[in-house]
Amino acid sequence: MKALVLAAGTGTRLRPVTHTGAKQLVPIANKPVLFYALEAISAAGIANVGIVVEPNADDIKKAVGDGSRFGVDVTYICQEQPLGLAHAVLVSQDFLGSDDFLMYLGDNYVGGGVTSVVEAFRHDRPSARILLTQVPDPTAFGVAELDDTGRVASLEEKPTRPKSDLAVMGVYLFTSEIHEGIREIKPSARGELEITHAIQWLIEQGRDVTATVNTSYWRDTGNVADILEVNRHVLDTTEGPGAAAGEVDPDSTLIGEVHLEEGARIVRSWVEGPVVIGAGTLITDARIGPYTSIAEDCRVSGSAIRSSILLSGSTVDGVSAIADSLIGRHASITTAAAGGDSHRLVLGDHTRIALAG
Ligand code: DAU
Repeated sequence: MKALVLAAGTGTRLRPVTHTGAKQLVPIANKPVLFYALEAISAAGIANVGIVVEPNADDIKKAVGDGSRFGVDVTYICQEQPLGLAHAVLVSQDFLGSDDFLMYLGDNYVGGGVTSVVEAFRHDRPSARILLTQVPDPTAFGVAELDDTGRVASLEEKPTRPKSDLAVMGVYLFTSEIHEGIREIKPSARGELEITHAIQWLIEQGRDVTATVNTSYWRDTGNVADILEVNRHVLDTTEGPGAAAGEVDPDSTLIGEVHLEEGARIVRSWVEGPVVIGAGTLITDARIGPYTSIAEDCRVSGSAIRSSILLSGSTVDGVSAIADSLIGRHASITTAAAGGDSHRLVLGDHTRIALAG
């Protein structure tokens, strides 16, 4: 069995962060969301992994490499344009051959891993198996309707009037029959070849399409609110290295789970976990946390930050209250020089900023 991880796509809802990096590399507790997927695939015993990437995906190739650090062997597959999830499978035909495969959307975070569903699929071998989760608003997802026996009766992509509250998660298990469905479908109204439609085709042909209703934590990290939510969840539930690898001066206070990566320094600051501070980052005269991830080589001084993610190399100086924020690489947030009474902004395209009062 192989795995196909989808990591192309534009990430428009995460601009401007995705202007300069793939959305699958946005860090959750200082680790790219894509890495959680690769760890889950490796834990499920799948070693042969194709990653679908866009033509300029050097950042993903650099971050993941040949996959050996995850215990997998990675083949990169180029999708020239993001023409849909089924299109991503289509361009991966040479890699997939006629093997069964696990398809994993690279921006999905799956709390309980995928080992048990992979094992169940290997045992039962239906034509396709999908994972479903109850969500309050299914209109942003593929939505499934189940029959009395628990089989999938129908599937729709982002319906305006959903037939159930069961959203399709970004983890699918397929036999090679799915390629037949992909050959039959046409682009959707949004111009994409939808995997949902290919699975619906299998259902209409009377093939065996089964579902597992997932009760553990799952999020699609396609927007900022969900990324911050997953960050909170991961900080709350995973064990980190503790503070030993960093340096904390006697005038600082650490409360709860505070994880310091190699060379992180805390000076005259109050840090309330769960928090992770990246390698080489310096925190001075600041109040950090809870639920905050600060990546490597950042500088935070005279500031307060909670429920936020800072990407590498960013600077925050003299800013009294930052909350619920995603701050991109090498961003700089400071106060105006003494006497300045206006906000001075140099913002990237599609930046969103909400100033207090
Ligand atoms: O997250 C679950 C949802 O994922 C499902 O409920 C939907 O049925 C499914 O269509 C998908 O919806 P999204 O609109 O969230 O998909 P998105 O465009 O965000 O793409 C998901 C991942 O696949 C993301 O990592 C980017 C990658 N991708 C996307 C497209 C359109 C590709 O690799 N190639 C593509 O052509």
